[in-house]
Amino acid sequence: MAVETPLKGNIGDSIKRKEDDRFIRGRGNYLDDIVLPGMLHMSIHRSPFAHARIKSIDTKAASAVPGVIAVVTGDLLAQHKLAWMPTLSGDTQAVLATDKVRFQGQEVACVIATDPYVARDAAALIEVDYDVLPAVVDPWKSLEPGAPLIRDEKEGQKNNHIYHWEAGDKAKTDEAFAKADRVVKLDTFYPRCHPSPLETCGIVADVNSATGHATLYMTSQAPHAHRTLFAIVAGLPEQNIRIISPDIGGGFGNKVPIYPGYVVATAASLLIGKPVKWVEDRSENLISTGFARDFHMSGEMALRNDGRMLGLRVKMLSDNGAFYADAQPTKFRAGLFHIVTGSYDLPAAHVETDGAYTNKAPGGVAYRCSFRVTEASYLIERLVESAALEMNMDPTEIRLKNFIQPEQFPYMSATGFEYDSGDYPRAMQLALDKLGYKELRKEQAEKRKKGELMGIGVASFTEVVGAGPGKHYDIVGLRMFDSAELRVHPTGKAILKLGVKSQGQGHETTFAQIVTEELGIPAADIEVQEGDTDNTPYGLGTYASRSTPVGGAATAMVSRKLRDKAKKIAAHLLEASEADIEFDHGKFFVRGSPSKSKTIQDVAFAAYTNLPDGLEAGLEGVTYYDPPNMTFPFGTYLVVVDIDRGTGQVKVRRMVAVDDCGVRINPMVVEGQIHGGLTEGFGIAFMELITFDEEGNCLGSNFTDYLLPTSWETPKFEMGETVTPSPHHPIGAKGVGESATVGSPAAFVNAVIDAVGHLGIKNIDMPVTSDKVWEALNKVGAAE
Ligand code: CDP
Repeated sequence: MAVETPLKGNIGDSIKRKEDDRFIRGRGNYLDDIVLPGMLHMSIHRSPFAHARIKSIDTKAASAVPGVIAVVTGDLLAQHKLAWMPTLSGDTQAVLATDKVRFQGQEVACVIATDPYVARDAAALIEVDYDVLPAVVDPWKSLEPGAPLIRDEKEGQKNNHIYHWEAGDKAKTDEAFAKADRVVKLDTFYPRCHPSPLETCGIVADVNSATGHATLYMTSQAPHAHRTLFAIVAGLPEQNIRIISPDIGGGFGNKVPIYPGYVVATAASLLIGKPVKWVEDRSENLISTGFARDFHMSGEMALRNDGRMLGLRVKMLSDNGAFYADAQPTKFRAGLFHIVTGSYDLPAAHVETDGAYTNKAPGGVAYRCSFRVTEASYLIERLVESAALEMNMDPTEIRLKNFIQPEQFPYMSATGFEYDSGDYPRAMQLALDKLGYKELRKEQAEKRKKGELMGIGVASFTEVVGAGPGKHYDIVGLRMFDSAELRVHPTGKAILKLGVKSQGQGHETTFAQIVTEELGIPAADIEVQEGDTDNTPYGLGTYASRSTPVGGAATAMVSRKLRDKAKKIAAHLLEASEADIEFDHGKFFVRGSPSKSKTIQDVAFAAYTNLPDGLEAGLEGVTYYDPPNMTFPFGTYLVVVDIDRGTGQVKVRRMVAVDDCGVRINPMVVEGQIHGGLTEGFGIAFMELITFDEEGNCLGSNFTDYLLPTSWETPKFEMGETVTPSPHHPIGAKGVGESATVGSPAAFVNAVIDAVGHLGIKNIDMPVTSDKVWEALNKVGAAE
């Protein structure tokens, strides 16, 4: 019988996820599992109207309910200067409404009670007298003269326009368009959708009035940054605030912003002197926290007749809701949307973006996306599909003709990104081979003759992840570095503490693997800790696929720092000169005599027991890593669909996904990330939609209206990989968590358009539901 050697956990080893032991046994410790002695519960009374002036709030009936301890209104918060808070985009947001409500579901008052159900019942008894105002839910209409002014409390705000921001070179782009043989245009809308993590947002705020210490258990993807913001907003000394982000049941960007519920629960705990818990229910999550997308995009591509791309012109209007609360680097008003040139060698590009207030919930979170890269990737990949269709070219041929070539890296894009590495033709070829593209095209031609609708969708995305070089990227002024602290104990076991924070991505396993690779300590001997601000080094958190590019790099660098010190100790133990010591997989030996060696465990013991003269005891260190550049993962996704003319139903027959995220630390974890991302992309493409009626009522506020894909609908995914290391990352890794959500929606929609394009249907906006497909077919007389 063959005996399997257990994997040590080096880079490239698909070891099982350490954290799953506790999760599959039901021993995870999520926010709602936290119960403190004397803890009270908070429920929020929300506005039923999208736009209304508050005439009065009557809290008498709610206050009289047995078990109710306090009712908090905006006026009470205003006395403590907490009625408004700053957003991550430098705007302000009402914590509890004082003057008027600006979206349906806005926080108006909070009830604190001894029991969560009492709090909820009492919140329903709060009487608010509203003067209802006209609502505007369409950003185009909100920018028209005479539209209701949403942010009338903002000094100098005379209309609903938020920002104008541009990237690229306008004159050069105009020149390219003047020279073009033809221009292809696409207007499209990436609808509002929601990250909808399994666990909603929540807090247990425990402010000790005797010591002034605030311990805040929060569903936070960025606990350190949140602590700093709490210190600034609430005026509490930062050292007195401890944010603990426990196990998190998914974040996807939903848990990056600071929400009113967090602020009121903390203020209530401070005023009452007891811990206060607030956990959103599902509808609260869907209507009030962290929506994504809502981008109206218009792209024009200048081309030569042979299909060579000459220039790109993009206009985008973002619907930001009532408060501009996007979580993104300060300098970039529309996030990193200007990555919209994608995988193509576009000599000129110009991007103009504008934002508008509407009577909808704020958010603008980068749902599984690096600051609006998803919308950009969707637009360029849909636009290339339109170009192929109009020019009667194969969608793979036009891409191959225009891809940035491997020898062009590092490549400077027309909008100012320096792409680190890539081999786009190789990823595409692998995907085409896996799918059997040529045969499927033949099948499609045969089917078309019989009137059957089959489509093959292509998307070759490029992402930009790993913010970032601190000189360009910051969140409310905090430079976007990240950190790792590593201590090796005398018995050779280690604790690694990180500034990032997993929401289910497997950091406890994969970050240990980086230390294993660098120091030779088995992954099982390394404990990874995250999420407690008192116990981990400062970092900007986990979102935008930045953990591996930044926190992973910090981990490799701190390991190397320890290795350098370990070398000195090994030289002492081996009675050799440090210059003669070599290291290989956990062993230090004298060059030329590998049998004379000391293990990392021997060295760790010596670090506390037997040191060379003059060397500090211990084996620990910390690294704050500021990456020299972002990383640029990429891939090609191919989708095959069959469409029923009678119902408009789209069936995804095949999906091949080839991803390149540089060196893969744990291939199994990477596949899991891609699988999850593709599922979310599928849901967005075909099912998920949060929309609003004319009065601003949110449609899509529960899981019977907002449809998430289950295993029943989700197609089977066939995955492949290429590996093009990042030249500047210490272990050559790029981020991967978001690639599949970024790249896949365009592949799904392109497959539908590929099936119906020959009938004259050029675009169907997401979600591509059967009724929309049938209607489009019916319009061109092709429905049955
Ligand atoms: O920031 P976030 O953790 O969401 O995204 P990520 O850095 O892309 O990592 C997601 C998970 O995949 C982590 O557990 C990573 O360590 C792992 N990963 C990997 O094993 N190899 C890569 N090249 C990239 C990520």
